[in-house]
Amino acid sequence: MTETRPPIISLNGVSKSFKDGQVQAIEDLSFDVRPGEFVSLVGPSGCGKTTLLRLIDGLVAPDRGTVLVNGRPPDPTYNMAMVFQSSRLLPWRTVAGNIDFVLGLRGHAPKARKSRVQALLGAVGLREFAEAYPHELSGGMQQRVGLARALAVEPEVLLMDEPFAALDAMTRETLRGELLRLWDRRRMAVVFVTHDIDEAIILSQRIIVLRPRPGRIDAVVPVDLPEPRWQTDPRGLPAYADLRRALWDRIHAMGREGVALEELTGAFGDEP
Ligand SMILES: Nc1ncnc2c1ncn2[C@@H]1O[C@H](COP(=O)(O)OP(=O)(O)OP(=O)(O)O)[C@@H](O)[C@H]1O
Ligand SMILES: [Mg+2]
Repeated sequence: MTETRPPIISLNGVSKSFKDGQVQAIEDLSFDVRPGEFVSLVGPSGCGKTTLLRLIDGLVAPDRGTVLVNGRPPDPTYNMAMVFQSSRLLPWRTVAGNIDFVLGLRGHAPKARKSRVQALLGAVGLREFAEAYPHELSGGMQQRVGLARALAVEPEVLLMDEPFAALDAMTRETLRGELLRLWDRRRMAVVFVTHDIDEAIILSQRIIVLRPRPGRIDAVVPVDLPEPRWQTDPRGLPAYADLRRALWDRIHAMGREGVALEELTGAFGDEP
């Protein structure tokens, strides 16, 4: 089916520098994200991935070009949420309290909040931990709370900045599955930053490969693998291996074009 709705996120000719122009983080970058689409951004350290997310959620403004979310410049009232590498929970509030806090900010009545918090904790498998404090949870559980808190606002756009990078391999695997399941149900647009090629392929419908200094698009790679991927792991499929190889070739081409190889392998892990 061809998508006819206008893009939910649209970047057009966006440039952003820091330090009075001394650091050109992003240059002339354009891409769209469709409503409900899952897009990953991958690229070596410093290529502007976090800056891109901050441009989309309006925390920083572009020097040139336009960023539109739902057809308008990003504004704080729009239903957009961000998940970071660390969960950034409020340590003095319980798990339920952290989610309740966000609902309160959004003006939900206290009565309705209680059942909503329960439902959200149920969705991320943490119902029994409602009264625990963040320091009593494992890293993976804290990230789950962070995800539940982001979902609390029913975002149409979910921005995720290496949300699973600090977790062990098994927890990452579980959380990827949970994220896919939640995305499958809610179909918000997701922009997911990762250094992990496998993670990008498993999760996304499209992968945007960025190159550094300044940050630009190197390639846009569609991921034509069967969905839903939380039910069928695509890693055994020949198409998966082909895609992984193609992404690796792109990255090695970057190396030949002057990006330090350590920067690339550091960013993308081992060769397939
Ligand atoms: N607030 C800031 N002040 C100065 N320079 C900045 C600022 N934010 C980002 N930069 C610079 O912009 C460039 C892009 O940074 P950004 O954090 O977006 O990269 P990244 O792709 O997210 O990297 P990583 O993979 O390491 O997280 C870097 O050179 C960085 O030093
Ligand atoms: Mg970053």
